[in-house]
Amino acid sequence: MSILFSPLTIRSLTLRNRLWVSPMCMYSAEDGVVQEWHHTHLTQFASGGAGLIIAEATAVVPEGRISPRDAGIWTDEQRDAWAPIVEAIHDRGAAAGIQLAHAGRKASTWWPWADEQGSVPAAQGGWTTVAPSAIAFQGFAEPEALDTAGIDALVTAFADAAKRAVDAGFDVLELHGAHGYLLHEFLSPLSNRRDDDYGGSLGNRARLLLRVIDAVREAAGATVPLFVRISATDHAEGGFTPDEAAQVGGWATEHGADLIDVSSGGLVAHQQISVFPGYQVPLAESVRQGGRIPVSAVGLITAAEQAEQVLVDGAADAIFAGREWLRDPHFALRAAHELGADVAWPPQYDRAHWR
Ligand SMILES: Cc1cc2nc3c(=O)[nH]c(=O)nc-3n(C[C@H](O)[C@H](O)[C@H](O)COP(=O)(O)O)c2cc1C
Repeated sequence: MSILFSPLTIRSLTLRNRLWVSPMCMYSAEDGVVQEWHHTHLTQFASGGAGLIIAEATAVVPEGRISPRDAGIWTDEQRDAWAPIVEAIHDRGAAAGIQLAHAGRKASTWWPWADEQGSVPAAQGGWTTVAPSAIAFQGFAEPEALDTAGIDALVTAFADAAKRAVDAGFDVLELHGAHGYLLHEFLSPLSNRRDDDYGGSLGNRARLLLRVIDAVREAAGATVPLFVRISATDHAEGGFTPDEAAQVGGWATEHGADLIDVSSGGLVAHQQISVFPGYQVPLAESVRQGGRIPVSAVGLITAAEQAEQVLVDGAADAIFAGREWLRDPHFALRAAHELGADVAWPPQYDRAHWR
């Protein structure tokens, strides 16, 4: 019996397996509105057997986009563009999630294949970024420190975005609290030097994240699974630590989060990160605290046996993969085949099922 291909129930949702698609920015939206590219990109993973597909970091306000080409969900038009994608994912037997995001001081940057790098100037469609403190990410423009009214407005923006996402049909909401974006910037002492209720102690640094969880839970209702992606370490001296991550994971679940999606890094350019197969699995295991907190593992998990072993070892409850799905959109069908797990194949593909 494969654990990877056993179902998982979270609140009202039962996922057909535990091999999921990690959120991946496509930098292909127009004014935050997702396009035909997103439709093809996301639905192929549902045909390929994914249990859950989390759509890319999707900005809750225009200034929260990493680049001008990021997806958004701050307007009804953007919501309505997501709806047929969600429906097509459902038609193919998978669940659909969306990652609600604000890029903070790492917003307003060029997309990866643009001719330029770094911050986009205002004259070319860029904007002033916001952050907990006026400390720039290396090579990017200096952000403005948010005031209390700005923080309150952000909490409301996350809640409004959550409501729109549920209305678009999404089954799962994920808050992007990782990779050096706004919610992570509040968590880390390297980017948060505030001396008010949102800075200093871990409780204060986590206050915004917990407020957003409360507001999103309230807006989304009691039945919708809510995940939080965190960077469980900054891989840098004086940064956010795995012990703090375990503490914040506990608080997040007490506030209504259902699963902590454990990633790492992205806060500072000088991070010292050593990357190898499954490199973030020990962080997931540490946040999981022996099963007290449901977690997912992600990061260079690229093979069926490897993914299965993470679950057998009790290091995580589910697996996210990113790049392996880009190499093979039918990763889950292939993994099930390799593990001998009898999953439902699309009838159109059934001739590839056993032999
Ligand atoms: C093209 C691309 C876009 C990404 N965009 C996001 C994103 O929007 N949100 C996020 O949390 N992580 C993002 N990531 C990170 C992935 O979700 C994943 O955590 C990372 O690639 C490690 O997993 P992997 O080794 O299976 O690819 C992105 C990664 C790639 C390759």
